[in-house]
Parts: sequence; structure tokens; C-alpha cells
Amino acid sequence: MDPKYAYIGVFDSGLGGISVLSHLVKTLPHEDFYYFGDTKHNPYGSRTQAEIFELAEGIVRTMIEDQAKAIVIACNTATSAAADRLRELFPTTPILGIEPALKPACIDPACKNVLVMATPKTLSLKKFQTLAESLSSSYHTHVIPLACDELASCIEREDVDSAQLKQLVHELLQPYAHKVDAVVLGCTHYPFVKHDILRELGPIPCFDGAEGLSVHVQDVLTQQDLLNPQAHAGTVTFSSSDTSAHTLDKYQRFFERACAEV
Ligand code: DGL
Repeated sequence: MDPKYAYIGVFDSGLGGISVLSHLVKTLPHEDFYYFGDTKHNPYGSRTQAEIFELAEGIVRTMIEDQAKAIVIACNTATSAAADRLRELFPTTPILGIEPALKPACIDPACKNVLVMATPKTLSLKKFQTLAESLSSSYHTHVIPLACDELASCIEREDVDSAQLKQLVHELLQPYAHKVDAVVLGCTHYPFVKHDILRELGPIPCFDGAEGLSVHVQDVLTQQDLLNPQAHAGTVTFSSSDTSAHTLDKYQRFFERACAEV
């Protein structure tokens, strides 16, 4: 098969990466996408780096054996923990990953105090710490990391409108209400509770890396002559390590919700 017609594989520890998928579909409407959510092993954010690598490697290997033409790691945690090694292991397939959108927040002169919400694992890894140190010294920004233990798994489990989820967002963010100038959503689950986050923090700029990543994926496919030439709209197929019908229904609902917001 001509690789141009192959799918782009997208994965996350669960449904969070669907917030990235909605941007990818908007930016690349003629591509076919295959989305895999590892709900069975969610959350990745409290696992060791070795465990995350092992899970991500299994997913990427399966997609590449299935002839995926590119892979998008729609998970900040897996990108930080595993992307570099995955690129070494599978050098012939483009592997692109999402990272906390700290730079666009820091370069905005109005954003002096920037709150970064992410999983404990993303914030503990050297990749994030090096980026935060370099940006805060270049732009004289105060970067405030907030490890949101439980938030991704609560979004995975609950309805986005559940009282439990709203209470968790409130408890996490109350200390920062009206005290920060911008917030970075450094986990792909969090855009699904963006309105609750901004309700707590106040009407401040909110940054996430999904749009920038989608443009980057488009650039890489263009450079490698891998854009799908089909004239009709591409397809989106969902799959999960949790095979219950309820999970795939949920992915579909979250996809519709995410597409309505991009
Ligand atoms: N959605 C993922 C991220 O962007 C991870 C959430 C989790 O599994 O802890 O980091």
C-alpha cells in the first residue's frame, strides 16, 4: 500500500488524547485516524517511567506493524517519559508528541505568573524541569507547577459534569484563584474541564499544545510527502484496551464534545 493512504495512529492513557484528536482532524481533514485509549492502564501519571515506556512501546509497535504512517503521542506524560527512546527504537516512522505549552505562555509579557497543571510524572521529569528553568530565566516568568494527582483518572471515570469532578477542580485550584496570569493545561485530559478550571482561576489565558502539535504534524507529513491525497473526508476509528462498549461510547461522546469546541 502507498504509505500516503495509511492511517495516523494517535494514543493516550485513555480518553484525554481525544482533545488532541479533534485538533488533528480539523487541521488534517483528509487523513484517516486510528485512536487508541489505554483506559485499562490509566492513569499513566502515577506510574514509573519504565512502566510508561513499556506500555507506550507496545502500542507504538502494534501501530507500526499495522503500517501506520505516523504516530502522535497525545499524552504529555508518555511524551516526557518515552518519546525519545521510542524515536530511537522506531527511527523510520515519524513519532510526534505533545508537551506542556509553556513557551507561548512565557513569551506573553502579560503573563508573569504561569500555573502549569500536569500529572505528577510529567512535572517530575527532567524534560519539564529543564524547560521551565530555561523559560523562566529567559522571560522572567514565575512558573508554578501544580501536580494534579487524581484529576486525569477522575475525568476518565466520571461524567464531565459530575459534582465530584467539580469539587476536585475546586480543591486543586482554590489557592490560585485570581492569583495567576495564565494557566497551561499540561495534560490532555484537562481541556475537558477547561470551563471549570477558568471558573476557579478567573478569565485568564489558557494554553494547551494541541493546536501547535497539529500544525507540526501537518508540516512533518508535508516534508515527508506523506499527506493523504484522497479528496473525501478521512475516517476516525476508536479502540481501547478496555473493550467494554461503554468505553467506546464514551470516547465517541467526548470526541463530539471536543469537535464542537475547536
Ligand atoms: N492525558 C495524559 C497526559 O497528557 C495522562 C493522564 C494520565 O494517565 O495520568 O499527561
